[in-house]
Amino acid sequence: MAVEIAQDLKWTKHHFTLNTGDKIPAVGLGTWQSKPGEVREAVKVALQKGYRYIDTALAYGNEKEVGLGIKDSGVPREEIWVTTKLDNTWHHITEEGITSSLNSLGLDYVDLYLMHWPSSTDPNNLKKHLPDWDFVKTWEAMQKLPASGRVKNIGVSNFAIKNLEKLLNDPSCKTVPATNQIELHPNNPSPKLVEYCKSKGIHCTAYSCLGSTDSPLYKNDKLKKIAEGKGKTVQQILLMWGLMRGTDVIPKSVTASRIEANFELDGWKLEDDEFKAISSLPERFKVCGDAWLPVRVFFGDDE
Ligand SMILES: NC(=O)c1ccc[n+]([C@@H]2O[C@H](COP(=O)([O-])OP(=O)(O)OC[C@H]3O[C@@H](n4cnc5c(N)ncnc54)[C@H](OP(=O)(O)O)[C@@H]3O)[C@@H](O)[C@H]2O)c1
Repeated sequence: MAVEIAQDLKWTKHHFTLNTGDKIPAVGLGTWQSKPGEVREAVKVALQKGYRYIDTALAYGNEKEVGLGIKDSGVPREEIWVTTKLDNTWHHITEEGITSSLNSLGLDYVDLYLMHWPSSTDPNNLKKHLPDWDFVKTWEAMQKLPASGRVKNIGVSNFAIKNLEKLLNDPSCKTVPATNQIELHPNNPSPKLVEYCKSKGIHCTAYSCLGSTDSPLYKNDKLKKIAEGKGKTVQQILLMWGLMRGTDVIPKSVTASRIEANFELDGWKLEDDEFKAISSLPERFKVCGDAWLPVRVFFGDDE
């Protein structure tokens, strides 16, 4: 895997160029499980500290507060990258999905609109799949959205190689997804999936890049030793590892001091031996499984 190095090690100003030519910032703020009542302030703090990228989703139930945080920050809309996601029960009504998200966010457009999961769930029964529908049809509809100007880029999330192959090989697929937002951290590195995406021109966003709530990575002795040796936090080491893999990272925090610390990434990098040691940690765990969905979407550790 080629190692990414930001120009002059300015990671917080670094971008990755998508297959549309648009540039996604390397570091963003995640908002899953950031509750209404705390996320507005977190978004404001992050933007005022220099973040220019916020990741949300209809399913997080916080788009309204995210939008208010953006306004509170005073940062001009055009300087901010906003990603949101089509919920599983809205696959057959994509126009309504983006309209709902834009209304909640109080924005005219989002920079990136993702199919949150490749599961077209029946809104009347979350254990069932919509009859006569699947994510290929959802993508067919999503491809029409950028023409309206309300969506600048479209992408997918939680797509394994098997489902990407199905999508890309379907004659209805005219737009290659700009991104695939997937769980990526040293205990779920998915190198084959990341390489596959790269070979197809699909940029990967690393979610749960810190290992999510109560992350076991924070207690990992090898990570702690590398962090101590460099005078960094384990969280900063995890973020740098994600960036050097060529993925953008979207750490979630509602704690101002952590939001700030997670953005202290400029002027340093991991050395080769450190990068390799982190890439070869043997432990495996996954934050987001698929048992709650009516269809399986993960087919193994790295597919
Ligand atoms: N597409 C998808 O299906 C999907 C799935 C999962 C996540 N995501 C996206 O990816 C984002 C990140 O993933 P995530 O929320 O699962 O988890 P994460 O960013 O890996 O970890 C967040 C957890 O780490 C804590 N934390 C953050 N910075 C810290 C620091 N410097 N020191 C100590 N603890 C720290 C946070 O606590 P506090 O908030 O209490 O500070 C929170 O408990 C999400 O918020 C969401 O936007 C997408």
